[in-house]
Amino acid sequence: MGLKVLLAAAEIFPLVKTGGLADVVGALPQALVAAGADVRLVLPGLSSIVAGLRDARVVCELGAIFGAGRVTLRLGQLAHNGVEAYVVDAPYLYRRAGNPYQASDGSEWPDNLQRFALLGWVAAHLAAGELDARWTPDVLHAHDWHAAMACAYVACHPGAGIATVFTIHNLAYQGLFSLDDFHLLGLPARFLASHGLEFHGQLSFMKAGLKFSDRVTTVSPNYAREIATEEFGCGLDGVIRARVGLVSGILNGVDGAVWNPADDAHIAAPFTANALQGKAVCKAALQKEMGLRLEPEAPLFALVSRLTSQKGLDLVLQALPDALQGPAEGGVQLAVQGNGDPELEAAFLAAAAAHPGRVAVQTRYDEPLAHRMIAGADAMLVPSRFEPCGLTQLYALRYGTVPLVRRVGGLADTVVDATADAVDADRATGFMFGPATSRALGQAMAQTVQAYRQPALWRQLVLRGMAQNFSWDVAAGQYLALYDAALRQRV
Ligand code: ADP
Ligand code: GLC
Repeated sequence: MGLKVLLAAAEIFPLVKTGGLADVVGALPQALVAAGADVRLVLPGLSSIVAGLRDARVVCELGAIFGAGRVTLRLGQLAHNGVEAYVVDAPYLYRRAGNPYQASDGSEWPDNLQRFALLGWVAAHLAAGELDARWTPDVLHAHDWHAAMACAYVACHPGAGIATVFTIHNLAYQGLFSLDDFHLLGLPARFLASHGLEFHGQLSFMKAGLKFSDRVTTVSPNYAREIATEEFGCGLDGVIRARVGLVSGILNGVDGAVWNPADDAHIAAPFTANALQGKAVCKAALQKEMGLRLEPEAPLFALVSRLTSQKGLDLVLQALPDALQGPAEGGVQLAVQGNGDPELEAAFLAAAAAHPGRVAVQTRYDEPLAHRMIAGADAMLVPSRFEPCGLTQLYALRYGTVPLVRRVGGLADTVVDATADAVDADRATGFMFGPATSRALGQAMAQTVQAYRQPALWRQLVLRGMAQNFSWDVAAGQYLALYDAALRQRV
């Protein structure tokens, strides 16, 4: 049997998803299994996760911990992919309506400290071989602040022989809590001070992952470099620089079982690079569904995103009036799917009301619609202020939808700007802009429209994009090599 790997995370597609983290946790385990690893997950017992577990058996009763009266550890298989998963079933902490982190009114759950400390605690004790005598991992791989405390709990009991890897999916979400609650974590005081979990007078779960893991990764090489700078470090750049040589970037992949235009049950017609007719059918269907004018020649931009300041969507709102200048007939169209910040939602809805037939907005979270948007659009806008990896531009490339991205984070690693040289060398896959200004975005949109009006050039970009291979196999190989290096350093 290969290396035993325990992945700890708070969300997993298709059971619970608030963003790209779920897509990654949904795809990485199978890719690691295909590469020869023996993989299990440990997940919080959110209602949909408990419901998605098949053939579950009780591994052990944990009793009353972290404020829950009853915690049961179950092991079963995820019904959708057969991967083995431990589920921390603590009904009092996890079974509630709303998303994993927030109530339906958008406020953070007041007991998030206990909810995610428990996840980390269980992961660490599984890793120490204390909870399941039949399976002990070699490597514990924790994702984002939600699982980061696992690294502190492992560090608290050195000698277990386990290696820990911590992956940052987004440094901006850090899991900050009151220092007064440190005692609830059950850690010795030495874990607190500024060289521990203390961060500007608060407790930081993210810091537990950054300081106490054997290796830190993030989801693109460029973001790995950026987070060591003050501009992108969210106050933690010093902590990251202190771990020089142990922080690296491994690019996310695309799950071809979920995102494949040749075989996607959600889209109006299938298509491939060799038979693109279906893409025009998808475009017409999207225009109809969104209430846009049925104009095959109009360049259709799409945006599928959480509406937060990270994503640079204010730039789109500012660039829009200029982009919509020129002929109404056959002119630029914009389809937006996004939810989050109420002000951004309102601003996009107002833009749609002001430009009926040319700007359309859907503010619901809807997975099948995201597929139809990405399949039906001509170009995909991702103007982020920062972007650890970004998945929508990867999905767009695969669906022959040309990405227009800001030159930042993983966007810069995954899109090749259509400069004259790149076009001549047939390497170009999209368009990029540098400064986070509506002017720079507007120029890039104009450049995109110009290219769209040149069918041979556009076809070249579409086909080069579709030929990209952002496969999870490559990422899995890189994670396995990293696990191995971390383990060898331990023993
Ligand atoms: P992030 O994780 O920062 O939100 P990513 O680009 O990595 O950014 O991943 C976003 C994921 O969420 C993609 O799978 C995208 O399709 C999906 N998504 C974002 N907004 C919506 C929405 N309103 N409905 C459905 N899917 C969405
Ligand atoms: C985060 C990042 C995004 C990344 C995703 C999956 O949510 O914001 O850039 O693609 O995690 O790693």
